[in-house]
Amino acid sequence: NVVEKGSFQWSAPSNIALVKYWGKKENQIPANPSVSFTLNHCKTITQLGFDKKQNDGVFSFDLLFEGQPKEDFKPKIQKFFERIFEYCPYLKDFHFTIDTRNTFPHSSGIASSASGMAALAMNIMSLEKALNPTMTDEYFHQKASFLARLGSGSACRSIKGQVVVWGNHAEINGSSNLFGVEFPSVLHENFKNYQDTVLLVDKGEKQVSSTVGHDLMHNHPFAERRFEQAHTNLSKIKSVLASGDLEAFIKIVESEALTLHAMMMTSMPYFILMKPNTLEIINKIWNFRNETQIPVCFTLDAGANVHVLYPENSKEIILQFIKNELVGYCQNGQYICDQIGVGAQA
Ligand code: PMV
Repeated sequence: NVVEKGSFQWSAPSNIALVKYWGKKENQIPANPSVSFTLNHCKTITQLGFDKKQNDGVFSFDLLFEGQPKEDFKPKIQKFFERIFEYCPYLKDFHFTIDTRNTFPHSSGIASSASGMAALAMNIMSLEKALNPTMTDEYFHQKASFLARLGSGSACRSIKGQVVVWGNHAEINGSSNLFGVEFPSVLHENFKNYQDTVLLVDKGEKQVSSTVGHDLMHNHPFAERRFEQAHTNLSKIKSVLASGDLEAFIKIVESEALTLHAMMMTSMPYFILMKPNTLEIINKIWNFRNETQIPVCFTLDAGANVHVLYPENSKEIILQFIKNELVGYCQNGQYICDQIGVGAQA
């Protein structure tokens, strides 16, 4: 089997957690299970060029971001390769050129680690499949998710769509701490093309890296209770995603977002990652929901940006509301319209 030289290309989307992953054990094992919507437009597109070389014990690769060499991204990727050599020993036989770009603006405060690691993992699996053509599709995707997890935990939820569960949970068949699995039940039609408009409140560097954040859950006074709560919320949202009960959906999702931030506010050291405009937006969403009864809600990741979630049939009115009332709280008036998607694509 001669695999000498060539290239693959994959795109992988970002994802937004509904039940949050916050806290981990050794080897990127999550302290609690999580579930996310896979996004559609916010993607990383990565080409992996490979060229066979002598296994001389020296591993090297070139990294291009938007066509230009990008040295400052290299250590993270180097560390990723080092973590996965034991699962992909063939990698040492190649020199790689990784050429990557995002469909969303760089330093928009949208983390590209999930989409980036997922796209790279899919490319690596394409190489593995070239070396081992009998591999099943299921193995391909499962191992891609497994590898992506070792790059960035939440990245394992970016391989598949539309809803992905990561972490052992008694009620999710096939769930695993090692990789993400597709949500096992049929999604209620209320969630068809579910919308996520990301309001860019603060595009600066993350105040707290997720590595530091996860670490703060060690010895956190509320950690154990929080991990139990995530299990409970995952059980609840499992039925909600099948029944289409948007009122219950909103309660779980908003509570999860605020709990994530509450964990950061009550750790030592403590952080407030929301900005005044984050709170302004949350209050506006609550007022709008009370007045109109339209099932729009928010979620947050570990930063100040707000994800506005709503059903497709309210798209027009919500976008009007965003333009009229929320854009003023966004940095340079910027926001990104996205929706639930299907996962990585060649
Ligand atoms: O994948 P990481 O280590 O960057 O952690 C992501 C954590 C949150 O985005 C805050 C929550 C989640 O489940 O995605």
